[in-house]
Amino acid sequence: MKLFCVGCGPGDPDLLTVRAVNLIKSADVIFAPTAREGKPSIALSIVEPYISKSAKTISLIFPMVKEKESLKEYWKRNADEIASTVRAGKKVVYLTVGDPALYSTWIYIHRELAKNHSDIDIDIVPGIASLFAFAARAKMSLAEGEETLAIVPACYDLAKVRQTANSCDTVVFLKDGRYFDSVIDMLGDAGFADSSTVAIAQDVSAGSEMLEISKLGSLRGKKGPAEKYFSVMVAKKNDKQ
Ligand SMILES: C[S@@+](CC[C@H](N)C(=O)[O-])C[C@H]1O[C@@H](n2cnc3c(N)ncnc32)[C@H](O)[C@@H]1O
Repeated sequence: MKLFCVGCGPGDPDLLTVRAVNLIKSADVIFAPTAREGKPSIALSIVEPYISKSAKTISLIFPMVKEKESLKEYWKRNADEIASTVRAGKKVVYLTVGDPALYSTWIYIHRELAKNHSDIDIDIVPGIASLFAFAARAKMSLAEGEETLAIVPACYDLAKVRQTANSCDTVVFLKDGRYFDSVIDMLGDAGFADSSTVAIAQDVSAGSEMLEISKLGSLRGKKGPAEKYFSVMVAKKNDKQ
């Protein structure tokens, strides 16, 4: 009895591992997260070319709310459904965008399974995380030599974001481009000079991709280009490129 959690990469179906593709092709049941009833799952849409005709696909709801208490019921229900499908003898795959270890719904499912369904074996297949897909598209190194790198969600506490930005050479901001403008306006206070490089991308590796590389000074106080949840911003204090 085994469940495979498969990282689907950032969006381009070519950016999956061979292992991920083989598991998806041979799966009987494929679970994938979505934010609400009726909303297509992004993870499912990435792997569509590999899903066999006989496979059943099931979207599981993980509402996009920050308050964790109200989410617990969803995590439990989703994990129970996955567990009963695995116990029925099916080859089951759970999909997640990018890599399962980074801000993924998988983390909550994994914890529920370990707590309430410990008879089920788990195998995690890593995927290409958005920040690495971004770095490849921007042709940008994220850290070299003694430089430090932080990964920060932009949509929470701005004071915490400032503290992290202060102590790192490169900061990768994930989770929601609509918060990037307020982060940009704070970067000066966190030790980023106007000449620092700021790269912003949306829908990396998908058809609607947008990528802009600028200097902090030209972005400050303006409406930035990122408008979507699926956005990445990288700020580099000392860009040697
Ligand atoms: C719930 S987190 C999932 C992260 C994912 N597990 C990873 O490894 O990249 C969602 C955030 O990841 C980032 N993201 C994921 N895929 C992306 C893409 N193709 N383009 C831009 N940002 C992406 C965005 O910051 C988005 O708000």
